[in-house]
Amino acid sequence: ACLVGSEMCIRDRHTIARLALGLADDMLTTLALATRAPILVAPAMNPAMWTHPATQAHVQMLQARGVEFIDPTYGVMACGDEGWGKIADTPTMIEVVERRLKRTQELAGIHVLVTAGPTYEPIDPVRFIGNRSSGKMGYAVAQAAAERGAEVTLISGPTALDPPAGVKCIRVQTAEQMLQAVQEHFEACDVFISVAAVADYRPERVYPLKRKRSQRAWTLRLVPNPDILGTVAPRKGHRLVVGFAAETGKAIEYAREKLQRKGLDLIAVNDVLEPQSGFEVDTTRLTLLYADGRVEPLPLLPKRIAAHRLMDAVVERLHILAGKSGVPDRSHLPDSLKSP
Ligand code: C5P
Repeated sequence: ACLVGSEMCIRDRHTIARLALGLADDMLTTLALATRAPILVAPAMNPAMWTHPATQAHVQMLQARGVEFIDPTYGVMACGDEGWGKIADTPTMIEVVERRLKRTQELAGIHVLVTAGPTYEPIDPVRFIGNRSSGKMGYAVAQAAAERGAEVTLISGPTALDPPAGVKCIRVQTAEQMLQAVQEHFEACDVFISVAAVADYRPERVYPLKRKRSQRAWTLRLVPNPDILGTVAPRKGHRLVVGFAAETGKAIEYAREKLQRKGLDLIAVNDVLEPQSGFEVDTTRLTLLYADGRVEPLPLLPKRIAAHRLMDAVVERLHILAGKSGVPDRSHLPDSLKSP
């Protein structure tokens, strides 16, 4: 029994490591690289091995790529050790798999419109005013919505990212172009998630030719850009409208004010001065503020996972909207969302 136990430990640990590194040296790991289907891993191993930093680092790498773990449970191992290492029981595994499969259809029939990335406001043909947004959060949100079966349109400012599979991506440069694209697609959407870090100001005049360097000071006059979310949110009707707020300092307070002023259903706020949270990095610590006053702080998470937590909130709000009497038109919602 001990031998069988050790073999299981080694094999499971090894498989997790090979999946994390993208090796494809047997049927399972080759399939895992080739498939677009959700991947779930239910490991069993010696408790010390499971909690070892080497194993947990690989687990985190896989989770960051969307792999879900059905964690081992507590018990006595085949080798006699006691701890968290026993494979989850069959009913638990079936329940997790069913929940995961249902998720892929949760937003079927729902059209989600997402903005992402920065906007670039030209000064001349060479220079622009922009910001440090990488687009990672908005792309993760678009991907999470698509993974749940939504029809997703992503309106993206300039980024170095590839659009997620199955997402219609419209690329724009400036805030005015982004506003126009949003206005064209807002009517047809059920959910609008405004993640883009739109430049607040643009140069009043754009030089047609590159402005030459000189020793004299140069004053650029900036004029305010349109508030895209603020422009479309008053026309929300039955739509669910979600904002993002990257703040420094009194983050929650500022975000609550924005939620109310822009008439949003939900706002996700992050303090960009916090380490590993905000622009450019792959992780974020979001707090979700709801229109009813509820506050839901999330832990520091990979943006992909944080995006799914946000989509959980979106699905919940859609259920509430669909169940509320007096909603003007809910015929556009699929049957699964018509009753709470
Ligand atoms: O810039 P601010 O902090 O007000 O951004 C809050 C929300 O408003 C974000 O969801 C952002 O995408 C949106 N926004 C916008 N147009 C702007 C500025 C912000 O849609 N010009």
